[in-house]
Parts: sequence; structure tokens; C-alpha cells
Amino acid sequence: MAWGYGLQNNLVNSTDLLSWYDVNARVMPWRVAPSDRRAGVLPDPYFVWLSEVMLQQTTVAAVKDYFVKFTTLWPTVQDLAAAPDGDVMAAWAGLGYYARARNLLKCARVVAGELNGVFPKTELELMKLPGIGPYTAAAVSSIAFDVQATVLDGNVERVMSRVHAVLDPLPASKEHLRALAAKLTPADRAGDYAQAVMDLGATVCTPRSPSCEICPWMAGCVAHKQGIAAELPRKTPKKKVPTRVGVVYLARRVDGAVLLERRPDKGLLGGMLGWPGSEWAVDQLPHNPPIAANWTTLNTVVRHTFTHFHLELTVLVANDVTGTDHIYDFYDMEQFNPTDLPTVMRKVWEATNLKLTKDN
Ligand code: ADE
Repeated sequence: MAWGYGLQNNLVNSTDLLSWYDVNARVMPWRVAPSDRRAGVLPDPYFVWLSEVMLQQTTVAAVKDYFVKFTTLWPTVQDLAAAPDGDVMAAWAGLGYYARARNLLKCARVVAGELNGVFPKTELELMKLPGIGPYTAAAVSSIAFDVQATVLDGNVERVMSRVHAVLDPLPASKEHLRALAAKLTPADRAGDYAQAVMDLGATVCTPRSPSCEICPWMAGCVAHKQGIAAELPRKTPKKKVPTRVGVVYLARRVDGAVLLERRPDKGLLGGMLGWPGSEWAVDQLPHNPPIAANWTTLNTVVRHTFTHFHLELTVLVANDVTGTDHIYDFYDMEQFNPTDLPTVMRKVWEATNLKLTKDN
């Protein structure tokens, strides 16, 4: 007998999970503790939205410092909306998935400019905003406003697939898991429930070796009963990611200024600063130096993995560039901060500096 195909698994309920959360909620800089929420305190919707956009495809540990940096620089959605694009992209550097940062800024400007700084409460209205998909809409609606909306991220998918022993593999089973998750979402304390089920997935119902003995849902968990919790969810194997290659040019003037380009808004690393170079493709495409100089090839290749491909970059270096006849900008040592670069470009910078240090 399989739970979830019309049968109600009464041993798994939101009350038990909420009692667990009351004691075990993780502390996060954007979170209101369950005791305060029960007393009627709700979080700032701007903080909830910002944290949830940052948490898309990124771990809580990686997000914490960025969240503090953003809310220190821009304490309100109006402050963020008024920030120069380059400052926001620089503050996001290292978090990856840079379309999120561009959409973050677009969304802040719509909320500040057209909605009086007020975030909508419903999933439907939230989804009309840039960068807000079903997950973020449900998270903001439930966590910021206690609307009965159902979040479905990787943690929730794992918890649902185990509790109901869903054997069909992801991603095909996703909508089934969403329906199961919706059935469990309570009308009362929906925001705490959303956070509780994600915390359970992150700390107890973990991918490889779940801690079933301390799980508030152990008694009703069908996968646990069958001894297959750690095997779920099943996943249809992903296609192998291809490797692309490219060339970047790192030009430095004698005074230390470096040649950088602002990448176009559309596409990978859009809107970020980077070293000029070739297109990235499976075979090396033709390319020309951004400026005439005495170029030498670094003897290490810089590797980086994006979602859909591995990248291997050959780095060409010129350290005594003169002249200004080029379409890019020199950034002098005061203007250039390597932490403003996306990770792949920072790796290039670090590889170049290691080489310089070794030779000197
Ligand atoms: N993962 C993404 N958003 C989260 C949240 N609000 N609480 C716990 N884990 C999360």
C-alpha cells in the first residue's frame, strides 16, 4: 500500500513538526524565532524576499554573510532600489547565478517605485515580479505573511518522498510531491511550517544518512518503515555536462591598473565585471587581444564549473601595457577590488598572482 495516492497518512501531521520546530528552529539573521512569531511578530518582508532569492541554489551557510552585507548597505527595499547597478553586482560577486542579482534589483525598483515599497502577500501577485518563481512566491507569502502557501525546494521534495515512500524518480515526480506537500500545509502557522519542513530536510532528513531516530515524523514515515529512507528520492540521471574552453586576457599597466570589461546584461555572468576574452565553446573560437601588448600564456589552466558545463580558461597575461586605444576600461588599484569579480574571474586573478609571486 502506498501512501499519497489518495490515502491520508494520519501519523504525519503539521502539529508534530511545529512542536519540533519550536525547540529546534535554526537561528538565521532573517528569521523571527517561533516563540516571537507565536506572539504575533512577523519578519520584514524585504528581509524574507532578499534571503529567499539568495537561498535559491545556495546553502544557508553561504548566504548568511551576504545577507548581512546587503542589509547593512541597503536596510530597506527603497535603499536597494536606489543603489547603482554596479554596486549591487559587486556585492553579489561570489554568490553565483548572477541573473538573480539583476532580477533582484529590477524587483526592488518595481516594489519601491510602483508598489509604495510594499511587497504583495499572495503567490499570484508575487509571481508577477522579476525573479520571483513558484518557490520564492510561496516562501515569501508564507514566511512573511503567514499565508497558507506550500514551499517545495529540494529539502521538501526529499522529506515528502520519504514520508510517503514515493518511488517514482525526480524530476517527473515533482508535481506529485507538490500535491503531497500542499496536503500537509496547515492554515495556522503556515510560515513556521514552511521553515520547519525545510529545516527538517536540512538537519534531520538529510540526503545520505538521515537521523531518523530524532525525527518528529519517524512513526509515520513509510520509507523509514520500509528501511529505504536513505535511497529516496530516486532521481533520473542527469546528462553529463560538457567541457567548454576559452581564453581570457589579463592586461596590467606598470602602475598596476587592470583592463576589465562589464559583461552585457543578458547571459551568463551578465552585468558582472570580467577579463576580456574569447567566447566559451566546446572548441576554441578565434579571438583577438583587447589591446596590443607582449602577451604570454600562463602555464596553468583555470577551471570552473557552471550548472551546464565545465570551463577551462587559458590565461594570457601582459604586465607592462601602455596606451589607451581600446574599448575596455582600465581600473586603477584603488578602483579594482578582486572580490567584486564573479568566482571564475577571481580564480583567473588568483592564478595570475600566484604565478607572479613564484617568478619573483
Ligand atoms: N532554505 C531556503 N529558505 C529557507 C528558510 N526560510 N528556512 C530554512 N531553510 C531554507
